[in-house]
Amino acid sequence: MKLDLNHLYPFIGREAIQSYETQVAATYNTIYNRTGAGNDFLGWVNLPSETDERLIADIEQTAKELRKKSDLFVVVGIGGSYLGARAVIEALQNHFAPLTGDRPFVVYAGHNMSEDYLNELLAVLDKKDYSLAVISKSGTTTEPAIAFRILKQHIIRKYGEEEASKRIIAITDKARGALKQLANVKGYKTYIVPDDVGGRFSVLTPVGLLPIAMAGIDIRQLIAGAVEVEKLCKNNPTLNGNIVSEYAVARHLLYNMGKTNEIMVNYEPRLVYFSEWWKQLYGESHGKGHKGIFPASVTFSTDLHSMGQYIQDGIRNLFETVISVERSNHELRIPMEGEDLDQLNYIAGKRLSEVNHKAELGTVLAHEDGGVPNLRIEIPEVSAYVLGQLIYFFEMACALSGYLLEVNPFDQPGVEAYKKNMFALLGKKGYEAQTEALELRIKN
Ligand code: PA5
Repeated sequence: MKLDLNHLYPFIGREAIQSYETQVAATYNTIYNRTGAGNDFLGWVNLPSETDERLIADIEQTAKELRKKSDLFVVVGIGGSYLGARAVIEALQNHFAPLTGDRPFVVYAGHNMSEDYLNELLAVLDKKDYSLAVISKSGTTTEPAIAFRILKQHIIRKYGEEEASKRIIAITDKARGALKQLANVKGYKTYIVPDDVGGRFSVLTPVGLLPIAMAGIDIRQLIAGAVEVEKLCKNNPTLNGNIVSEYAVARHLLYNMGKTNEIMVNYEPRLVYFSEWWKQLYGESHGKGHKGIFPASVTFSTDLHSMGQYIQDGIRNLFETVISVERSNHELRIPMEGEDLDQLNYIAGKRLSEVNHKAELGTVLAHEDGGVPNLRIEIPEVSAYVLGQLIYFFEMACALSGYLLEVNPFDQPGVEAYKKNMFALLGKKGYEAQTEALELRIKN
């Protein structure tokens, strides 16, 4: 992978980036010596290279057994216990996977509280063989806990208590939380989320690895890609020649000049959920103390026909980070037609990816002209290895960016506010005072 800053330089000079050399080296020291804020959540730093072979083999074996008896695999989780797996699976599976007959197909629950969504899922599960993973580091998150309670009853009704227990995998803390207690009592196979790896940094733990293996994806390749970038950073914890640092500094400088919104751009719809994962990683890590870039995403050229106008011409507080994919996985050429009624013969014979690349180049240049700086991350292809590289790239850049911004990138205190209100409004024990205050506020 490469980072192209040519469409940033008209806005921010190379010297401005270089001026961060000392600060970047110091920030790497803070990370590697574990002296910064949130330093008890740095387990992801060495995770790829230190993943135990026995754990990988165990996950592969579990996936192999469950795949044999599952048409569907339900991943029950939310936030960091959901998005990483979905990002990788959707990036690598066929766009029309539910229709190809390939099995098992991975579906998701516990990432919303929609009655309709879960009802419709249950109706599908009535007719399909399935197994499931319930994933929650804390083991107490409301959304997946509710979904799991409902799905647990369904799977027991369908297969009986004993077989159901063999079809349920729990991925949670090693000791704490309601899910761990439940898994112990019911005898579910359990994988541990390491204490020092926060939810949104947990895709390369069993949280992501088991669902990804269930989808038939090579988790060794994913980890190998991450190891490469882990080593790149360790061997060169500076700014020069380190694209992770360059990305972190570039976005920090852009933020300081008022570019408060970063749009992750892809030209491949298989990367939509990768952007969702990235949005959580950056939004939850940096949006605190009334600071931080707002992470957004678009899929081009689809969204050039919707959001394109705003990006070209709206408020100039934007910059884009484009994931540019060099090679498609398949080849398709535009056919020649004798009559040329649709006037497309001028591109006949060209691959669709070539046209897509020209749209990308044309857009980058147009947006640059429109005052939108562009960072381009070039990847050769969308593969497990490259996704592993990207995951570690964005995780380390997230830590660097967070420290440059002077926030703790590893906590999420703001997430509690809605939960407290929801619990109070639902009448949960211990929230009585808040219930009263909220009811008064609603009445007024
Ligand atoms: O990054 C985070 O910590 C959060 O997004 C969590 O992953 C999310 O809230 C789910 O938490 P849990 O895994 O404890 O159910």
